[in-house]
Amino acid sequence: MRLIKGKKIQLGLVGGGPKSWIGHVHRISSRFDNQYEIVAGVFSRNSQLSKRFGQSLGILKERCYSNFREMAEREAERKDGINVVAIMTPPSSHQIIAEKFIDKNIHVISDKPFAGNLAQAKKLFKKIKSNKKIKYALTHNYSAYPMVREAKVLVEKGKIGKVEYINVEYVQDWSDGENISQKNAKKKFKWKIDKNIVGASAVLNEIGSHAYHMATYISGLKGETIFADIKQVSNKVKMDNNAQVMINFNNGAKGMFWTSVMARGGVYGLRIRIFGTKGSLEWVQNDPNYLKLNPSNGSVKFIERGFFNAELSKKFSRLKFGHPEGYLDAFANIYREFAACLKNNVKKRYFYPNEDEGLETAKFIEACKVSNRKKRWVKIK
Ligand SMILES: NC(=O)c1ccc[n+]([C@@H]2O[C@H](COP(=O)([O-])OP(=O)(O)OC[C@H]3O[C@@H](n4cnc5c(N)ncnc54)[C@H](O)[C@@H]3O)[C@@H](O)[C@H]2O)c1
Repeated sequence: MRLIKGKKIQLGLVGGGPKSWIGHVHRISSRFDNQYEIVAGVFSRNSQLSKRFGQSLGILKERCYSNFREMAEREAERKDGINVVAIMTPPSSHQIIAEKFIDKNIHVISDKPFAGNLAQAKKLFKKIKSNKKIKYALTHNYSAYPMVREAKVLVEKGKIGKVEYINVEYVQDWSDGENISQKNAKKKFKWKIDKNIVGASAVLNEIGSHAYHMATYISGLKGETIFADIKQVSNKVKMDNNAQVMINFNNGAKGMFWTSVMARGGVYGLRIRIFGTKGSLEWVQNDPNYLKLNPSNGSVKFIERGFFNAELSKKFSRLKFGHPEGYLDAFANIYREFAACLKNNVKKRYFYPNEDEGLETAKFIEACKVSNRKKRWVKIK
């Protein structure tokens, strides 16, 4: 769908109803930089609830649809129809929804994971590549923090030498301080306990995908072989809730990766450390405006977002250094760059994650499942 000159990018939403917090994040972030206008949507499978919610956001009644199929058909028929759809439904529906809009030449911004499982991911990847009229962005939002992108270019410039080791951990506590049993699990975890909805693996699709993406995004490497142990910490509930993975990367580097949704005690943290022949880099999501550069022959440097020696980070910042930016700002970077890409349509470098990274991550998750089952090293393919 063509952009209309002088008009903001017309955005439609699928998912992100009243109780979804990521829905709120998308709605705010998409409007951070005045590039998008939310004009259509379907927010729930319950069409009454969806329409009521859509109208409460100020969307015209006739553009609050009953389901995503109707939305794609009707929006494609309109002269002022949406240019972009943003998808924020549970994982196993991402493929089918994205494909419907791609068929109507509508660009897609989708929340992660790319798809529910590898079979879906391969189909979606093919569909995206087969339509030259559309562009696709995946909201692996942690990679959009200015200092994460700064880290990526520091690695590219050889500041830490050849990457030799990567350590990532992304842990959460989904228990809310309760003891989880078969009885309360469904209420607590909702669709995350249902394989048909969450897809290949709850912990890996929900947060492991981010962790693996961060490792490959900053280092520029790909995983080649892995050994995974996906342990049910509590075997009362059938849900992948913890994964530890050893990785061999394609330049010979090694990696260790831990992700858990039952790291009890309110722990919440994404941390990545990358070690090279000349030093190391460390970034922690809870302190996102700083990147730690630790040269092997000197003292530790804390590089601050937006400061003179963090040139690239300025491009992805809105506030001056010293004033903290956070999650929403980073999320908005994906929307802002995607808008620039659609408007300029020039072959310059964009940093937002796309379908290539989505497929890579789906392959990694599938390999983890196979390795865990066979209890041996497997190739990521
Ligand atoms: N990028 C991030 O940091 C991040 C954070 C949280 C969640 N997510 C991702 O966002 C997605 C949604 O997660 P959530 O936690 O918000 O889930 P949720 O269950 O809280 O919200 C999902 C919303 O989608 C709606 N929905 C479901 N199927 C639909 C359909 N077919 N059509 C229209 N609406 C539909 C539901 O009514 C609900 O409002 C998941 O893929 C999840 O991994 C990403």
